[in-house]
Amino acid sequence: MLKNEAATIRFPFPGPIPPAHMNIGPYTLANNVFAAPMAGVTDRPFRQLCKALGAGYAVSEMVTSRRDLWNSLKTSRRANHEGEVEPIAVQIAGTDAAMMAEAAVYNIDRGAQIIDINMGCPAKKVCNKWAGSALMQNEPLAIEIAEAVVKACEPHGVPVTLKMRTGWSAEHKNALALARAFEDVGIQMVTVHGRTREQGYKGLAEYDTIAAVKAALRIPVVANGDITSPQKAHAVLEFTGADAVMIGRAAQGRPWIFREVAHYLATGTLLAPPLVAEVRRLLLGHLEDHYGLYGEFTGVRSARKHIAWYVRHLPAGEAFRERMNSLESGEAQLRAVAEFFDELALRMDRMPVLAEIASPQEDQEEKASA
Ligand SMILES: Cc1cc2nc3c(=O)[nH]c(=O)nc-3n(C[C@H](O)[C@H](O)[C@H](O)COP(=O)(O)O)c2cc1C
Repeated sequence: MLKNEAATIRFPFPGPIPPAHMNIGPYTLANNVFAAPMAGVTDRPFRQLCKALGAGYAVSEMVTSRRDLWNSLKTSRRANHEGEVEPIAVQIAGTDAAMMAEAAVYNIDRGAQIIDINMGCPAKKVCNKWAGSALMQNEPLAIEIAEAVVKACEPHGVPVTLKMRTGWSAEHKNALALARAFEDVGIQMVTVHGRTREQGYKGLAEYDTIAAVKAALRIPVVANGDITSPQKAHAVLEFTGADAVMIGRAAQGRPWIFREVAHYLATGTLLAPPLVAEVRRLLLGHLEDHYGLYGEFTGVRSARKHIAWYVRHLPAGEAFRERMNSLESGEAQLRAVAEFFDELALRMDRMPVLAEIASPQEDQEEKASA
């Protein structure tokens, strides 16, 4: 039984997982290692970086179905896909079937090639309005929304996918029943995060429910939750039989995890950690792109969390993170980052090997969508 022992599974490598030729509708994906949507994190610059570093697919941060917010700066930034590697997948969130259908078409008109419905997000702001994972408690409404969005997307040839949790609470794990219903109304891929809505980010993800969903469905199923290493990705794929894995928090400040996982799944060997010089270059490029999307004032501030994630396991990383808060210009931030990594490169060629990523940051999602 895998459950959470997956993290402890070590060599011998049990055999490569055959490369998954995954399709979502007409789109063939580069591989089956996906970047999870994370509001406030997986903006266009970060998604592009994840894709460049091996993610076969990345879904945008959720966009509200509320028409009155579509012209807000936040929504228009979230809907920015300039130069993004295809397919462009946009996640929508909401509580009203007609509004969700309208939001899907609105995003298709702006370049979305795949629409993903959010039924996985536990943030209060979303749940108070019965959106996100709260929808799993109202099965008829959840199915009505899925059906309406599929119908709206069909004439455009746009596939609809859906992301959910294992259920509402430990007593109400209805992912299997819902997934069957979603498949029946035309959803083309389901991602399951192995926690209930009630859990938030507490406890550990379980994979039995994901395995049950996979066994029951014909459409591709994606396993998500607590995948923090190539070995764990392999173990979760083997245990669940899922078609793909999706990685969220472990990619924060570590977008090269996608190539590490993809390489391990294909070969059974672990890539060496990236060179410090490569991470310096990646982070500086990430920051430039980030300022480009948000403008310097907002960009310098919202980049601080990314910088903190990149340096969190590094010597003097904590002091550096604190220092970042006092720097207010892009130039100063870029210079400080370059100097930090130059100094690090004097101590080590490569980034340290991480046995496992430290504990998940439980409140992140609520903060991000606040
Ligand atoms: C900061 C943050 C923001 C998130 N935003 C979204 C979101 O917009 N839509 C969504 O479906 N899930 C969202 N999630 C959930 C993740 O996609 C993922 O299901 C969850 O983090 C578990 O995967 P992990 O253990 O690999 O992080 C968010 C998670 C975090 C930490």
